[in-house]
Amino acid sequence: MWNNVVESWQIDPEAGTDDLEAKQPFIDNGLDVHDPGRYYDPGFMAREWDRLWTRTWLIAAIETDIPEPGDYSVFRLGRESIIIVRQQDGSVKAMYNVCAHRGNQIVQNDRGSVMQFTCAFHSWQYGLDGHCTQITDKNTFNPELVKQNPKLTPVHCETYAGLVFINLDENPPALKERFGLPGGYLENYQLDKMHCVRHIVTEWHANWKTAVDAFYETYHLHAVHPETQDVMDDMGVQLDLYPHGGSRMLVPIAVKTKRQADQAAMNPSLEYMMTEVNIDPSQFTGSASEVREAIQKAKRARSDRLGLGYERFTDGQLTDSWATGIFPNVQIGLHPEGAFLMRFMPHPTDPEKFYYDTMTLVRPVDDPLYSVPGWMGLPKDTDTSGKIRPETEYISSGEAPNLGLVLDQDSELLPVVQRGIRSKGFNGAIWGEQEQRLRHFHREVNRYLDGEK
Ligand code: FES
Ligand SMILES: [Fe+2]
Repeated sequence: MWNNVVESWQIDPEAGTDDLEAKQPFIDNGLDVHDPGRYYDPGFMAREWDRLWTRTWLIAAIETDIPEPGDYSVFRLGRESIIIVRQQDGSVKAMYNVCAHRGNQIVQNDRGSVMQFTCAFHSWQYGLDGHCTQITDKNTFNPELVKQNPKLTPVHCETYAGLVFINLDENPPALKERFGLPGGYLENYQLDKMHCVRHIVTEWHANWKTAVDAFYETYHLHAVHPETQDVMDDMGVQLDLYPHGGSRMLVPIAVKTKRQADQAAMNPSLEYMMTEVNIDPSQFTGSASEVREAIQKAKRARSDRLGLGYERFTDGQLTDSWATGIFPNVQIGLHPEGAFLMRFMPHPTDPEKFYYDTMTLVRPVDDPLYSVPGWMGLPKDTDTSGKIRPETEYISSGEAPNLGLVLDQDSELLPVVQRGIRSKGFNGAIWGEQEQRLRHFHREVNRYLDGEK
């Protein structure tokens, strides 16, 4: 008999309703099976561009990438390129990366720092706010043409919780009207104090939603990422849906999956996680099911010693992954030590390709006994001081992405899924309750495409 056991999976049944860890009320998104054309049809892609990408608030940059006036970062979205730049007064503005004169792209690199932008074609110059400060040989232009000083076309931009959002709509609703997560949720992690220590952009042969779907559930872990079963409980994940397409899964870490019959015996992965917080596994007398709590206690003690302020986190937050979906194209894995900011970026022309843009953010801590968790997958020589912002690495499809075992497994899987979705023999996805975030996400996509939003 059917029973929605997933709704009873929760991290802390005692959590009060105002607690950020509290289970959210269920949102019924129906049982629609969507036409799989949404994953490959160029017409669907074109509607997504017109009605979704150019109308939703999108995470375009992190604030710590542009700390000083004149610091800029470029956000590439489909065929568009947007400059995000810190102003003299500390605010952030966004503008199209297009010279008003003949359309040349002004900025070619990913990031930099200037006091004004100079176009490489005929040397027109623009201030940080996008206004034209110099037209070369201005006296050779009929004054009629340049009397309203041309400017870089502005883009709506808001900063929130250390993130910079843009919206290409000419008259968008305020970000807070469309941002479904409760106040304090992101702020608690202090992303404004985290720094990007690794940034990789990989082209994958799949639709961007094929990827969102895969990253929005833990249902595939046992099959695709079996090694996670020793340290992640994919059967105890708390799934929550928020207004406007947002959602999350709270994934217990440092605990075995309930799919394993033996919950007591230790395994090398759990032992390794203990060593990272300076617990000697050979001295540990508890069972495997007590490791998560032991690690939480060790992290609290470490926070007290180093003044990391972990009082603001629940016990669960100290170990678990708060994988949080920000509609439409972001999942951010939140942890006290850092965050994975994953953006699923549409390809400019091909609905069966997308760019997986992943930034590893770290909260720098200067202490010899402190290290970021190994499962963050940072290469050994990574500078985690926050003082060096690494260049973005671009990896074309076919090259090994080298993103760590789990992500490499996903990158091999997704093109195969995409090929299957493309088949005449596929009738549309059948989602179970472990996949309720997918239903919530696609329903919101449809609201935009159907003109309800
Ligand atoms: S196109 Fe930029 S100055 Fe001519
Ligand atoms: Fe995966």
